[in-house]
Amino acid sequence: AATVEVTWDVEYVLWAPDCQQRVMIGINGRFPGPNITARAGDVISVTMNNKMHTEGVVIHWHGIRQFGTPWADGTASISQCAVNPGETFVYKFVADKPGTYFYHGHFGMQRAAGLYGSLIVLDSPEQPEPFRHQYDDGGELPMMLLSDWWHQNVYAQAAGLDGKDRHFEWIGEPQTILINGRGQFECTLGPARKSFEKLLNENVETCVDDQKMCSDQEKCLRRSECGPYCPRSQCAPVVFNVEQGKTYRLRIASTTSLSLLNVKIQGHKMTVVEADGNHVEPFVVDDIDIYSGESYSVLLKADQKPASYWISVGVRGRHPKTVPALAILSYGNGNAAPPPLQLPAGEPPVTPAWNDTQRSKAFTYSIRARKDTNRPPPAAADRQIFLLNTQNLMDGRYRWSINNVSLTLPATPYLGAFHHGLQDSAFDASGEPPAAFPEDYDVMRPPANNATTASDRVFRLRHGGVVDVVLQNANMLREEVSETHPWHLHGHDFWVLGYGDGRYDPAAHAAGLNAADPPLRNTAVVFPHGWTALRFVANNTGAWAFHCHIEPHLHMGMGVVFVEGEDRMHELDVPKDAMACGLVARTAATPLTPA
Ligand code: C2O
Ligand code: CU
Repeated sequence: AATVEVTWDVEYVLWAPDCQQRVMIGINGRFPGPNITARAGDVISVTMNNKMHTEGVVIHWHGIRQFGTPWADGTASISQCAVNPGETFVYKFVADKPGTYFYHGHFGMQRAAGLYGSLIVLDSPEQPEPFRHQYDDGGELPMMLLSDWWHQNVYAQAAGLDGKDRHFEWIGEPQTILINGRGQFECTLGPARKSFEKLLNENVETCVDDQKMCSDQEKCLRRSECGPYCPRSQCAPVVFNVEQGKTYRLRIASTTSLSLLNVKIQGHKMTVVEADGNHVEPFVVDDIDIYSGESYSVLLKADQKPASYWISVGVRGRHPKTVPALAILSYGNGNAAPPPLQLPAGEPPVTPAWNDTQRSKAFTYSIRARKDTNRPPPAAADRQIFLLNTQNLMDGRYRWSINNVSLTLPATPYLGAFHHGLQDSAFDASGEPPAAFPEDYDVMRPPANNATTASDRVFRLRHGGVVDVVLQNANMLREEVSETHPWHLHGHDFWVLGYGDGRYDPAAHAAGLNAADPPLRNTAVVFPHGWTALRFVANNTGAWAFHCHIEPHLHMGMGVVFVEGEDRMHELDVPKDAMACGLVARTAATPLTPA
């Protein structure tokens, strides 16, 4: 196995992801961050220099399980201390499993500020993925990484979310959906056509300085015109080039802050083969739902007449105020020089209605483990944890809470606290958070009890134990509203045993869970007023976040922390500079690896 070594400067950049210039967090002067491609078994080593002058930073490798390297998980206050301005931290971990992943900031709301990029782990030739023979050599398209973008910066967003009483301000819907960091603010279909025409016809020479052109708002951003977009400008639409007759693998991942999305390609069907780095039983779809934190691979056959086709990415699950993002699938002739772009004929495909929840459920429920590589989960669990998601008020502030407890994070990272034997003083170790909620809780009604408390308690899981988690969704503070929450688990994949509407009732539902071919995932959606049941094996010593992947929801406390194998924590080889903060820094005499 090889080592993939990169050096990154994380820094503020002026960038115009949707043709309007803002400050973003970039890597090596660019947004989004560079792609990392490794092969299964390779070591990835990222030397990260924090070149931001006023804030700490960490980077999380979403979907990488970090066996033996929990300190490299990149979660501030959980797996490491935030890396201070001017300092350097080296993330070194094994890309243990082929699949479609990404990385992102995991401190404050730095993901929403643009700190993310794609991470691809290719299969090894000795152990090809089971669908490898179904797409052509060279048929790997660039990954499609989806995100959403606000013109208001993340400090303003966070201050609004933290605001008390009338000072609370919800972030609202994003201004623009981005595909590989590119979008076109408020371009609706009509103007978009115009802009794409400009893209085709504009003489590149007239866009002398493409990095700067879009800061000239007069010239570049007339809302009714949406253009011009120079082909090399920061907000030019993404073009995927294919050759007729070939079959391609398209990787799609979502690191949105809020939006639930749907991807639809004009005139083409997709066959879903991978989800979150795990094989799924192939199934054919017209469009694909994708929640924040999820990834898929689809097979795409270029079986239409040679032309250009629209790719639409529209909002699902929330009343959209954001126009769909567009990209182009362009058929060429396979020659070295890219063919001249043609404007797709017809209108971009319309993604399914945002509130067609039945359709979303049908898509999600049809994801099953691939038959010929399926290994079913352990038959029973040792431990059951029920997590009720509610929106609540705490001290005049809006919080999300789990069993009426809203997550706060301690100054000393949990991993460091356990590693150094400081767990009794580093956080509230007087008990675990509640693992159940009242029998008579009515999930269809706004919460009756608003007395939410904040806590940094953790669940302590026995090494090797089999854990079942039921995520229970409920009504929000407002009558008859419940949202969709994609929950992501660090350090693991879990089996998704089932979903249902209303309140989970073990007597009625346990027998109907799917023990035969549940898909393995690292992110699972919880539908409005519904429940989702998961199972995982707590075999990864470390401290792992489990949370809603919607950035403002996590910011408002929607998560829990699992500490696994605490009796083995001292054996870990934790780099000293991962823990140079909080109590660990103040008790310098503590041996790093107590015997
Ligand atoms: Cu991609 Cu804790 O998140
Ligand atoms: Cu959420």
